[in-house]
Amino acid sequence: MSNVVILGAQWGDEGKGKMVDLFSERFDIVVRYQGGHNAGHTVFIGDQRYVLTLVPSGILRGKQVVIGNGLVIDPAELIRQIETLEAAGVDVAGKLAVSNRAHVIFPFHRTVEKVSEAREGRTAIGTTSRGIGPCYEDKVGRRGIRMADLVDERAFPELFRALAEDKATLARAFGIQDKLDYGAILEEYLAYGRRLRPMVCDTARLLHQAVGQGKRILFEGAQGSMLDIDHGTYPFVTSSNATAGGVATGAGFPPTKIDGVVGVSKAYVTRVGGGAFPSEALDEAGERIRNAGGEYGTVTGRPRRCGWFDVPLIRYTAMINGFDSLAITKLDVLDGLEEILVCVGYRLDGEEIEEMPAAHGVLARVEPIYERLPGWKSSTREVRRFEDFPPNARAYLRFLEERTGVEIGVVSIGAERNQTAVAEGSRLERLLGPLS
Ligand code: GDP
Ligand code: IMO
Ligand code: MG
Repeated sequence: MSNVVILGAQWGDEGKGKMVDLFSERFDIVVRYQGGHNAGHTVFIGDQRYVLTLVPSGILRGKQVVIGNGLVIDPAELIRQIETLEAAGVDVAGKLAVSNRAHVIFPFHRTVEKVSEAREGRTAIGTTSRGIGPCYEDKVGRRGIRMADLVDERAFPELFRALAEDKATLARAFGIQDKLDYGAILEEYLAYGRRLRPMVCDTARLLHQAVGQGKRILFEGAQGSMLDIDHGTYPFVTSSNATAGGVATGAGFPPTKIDGVVGVSKAYVTRVGGGAFPSEALDEAGERIRNAGGEYGTVTGRPRRCGWFDVPLIRYTAMINGFDSLAITKLDVLDGLEEILVCVGYRLDGEEIEEMPAAHGVLARVEPIYERLPGWKSSTREVRRFEDFPPNARAYLRFLEERTGVEIGVVSIGAERNQTAVAEGSRLERLLGPLS
């Protein structure tokens, strides 16, 4: 098997960066297929911490990396990231290809987002304020500007003026103080276009040719399945398809060539921003998880909301994505807890329900049904084989497997690459090759 997707099974920040880094040496190319710099993927190599927002995490292992057409790109952020990586000795220039069909984020996208989030009477989504949603709005509204346009110095000014005029008209109509200097933005973006031009190409073709040469491709999801625009907790979601289907459209990669999908899930749950969270722990247990897990946003620094593993949620995201295997991260954060709760079902108006409600208002009303499992008292951080986990930790993992119906192929017990335990003979091993 060759082409594999790794994506978030919950609300993001599951530890995708670590998992992609861990597995990337088995692949030739690592590809992002959706989202933008709302993502923050942390990778530790020794003591060195890297946070990747746009460039796929495989860059740190010298892999070829691709930013697919499904992304929205803030060129200033992309250039900043390239420069930061190169200053740290990571070779980017020869390794990074950027899709000519990816859309471009402009400063006015952030303005639109700020106005929309702050509007009186609206429940804020709690976005990352990166202009992601408004840029996707322009894409779907068929007035967006793509990387192919940005790097075309002759065509770009006119396209930009048309879009800028659109925004200025809207700003006037809504009485918004529009302080943007469109002339300066045009000049700035022309310079970005010149800088990025050598990397911009038809990345779907690049991947097609790579497959023809027998190369192996790893797709790195951003955000998480419950933040997916179609399948997540709408409207408290992001504006792209973070689920496995997003690979086909967001990279121009045929679904017939995807060999497997791995879901990354924490051993508990976190969420940043607003929206329903049935198993949220608002008591001191939640606080303890936040402290032990360092649960503060990688991109915005906001404290992450914490709660207990949610079985119906994973059953749902497993259904949508067809997970072959789960990677469970941050099990070590639960070390030392007296007991661990697992949400095994929801109750709605006194009745047990099996399905994820589509309406956000209904999901916000469900009550979690918990089972309580005994914790373990020792540290799991040094464990490298499943057999060596404390019996209660093994029982916890088995319980999650049984209830979700998905195997657990790998467990992470620390941020570093070697702090990982693998299950022998798993489907994951069949997908990726021997892991231990
Ligand atoms: P991503 O967006 O899915 O890549 O996840 P983030 O990087 O935003 O957040 C995950 C955080 O947990 C990062 O700070 C990681 O370094 C850290 N991390 C990943 N796996 C583990 C683990 O198994 N144990 C602990 N304690 N930390 C981990
Ligand atoms: P990674 O890839 C966690 C959340 C925001 C907000 C909602 C919409 O690191 O897992 P947006 O700016 O995308 O319009 O915000 O989605 N969100 C994330 N939460 N991890 C992320 O990325 C996220 N990207 C967006 O907090 O609730
Ligand atoms: Mg993150």
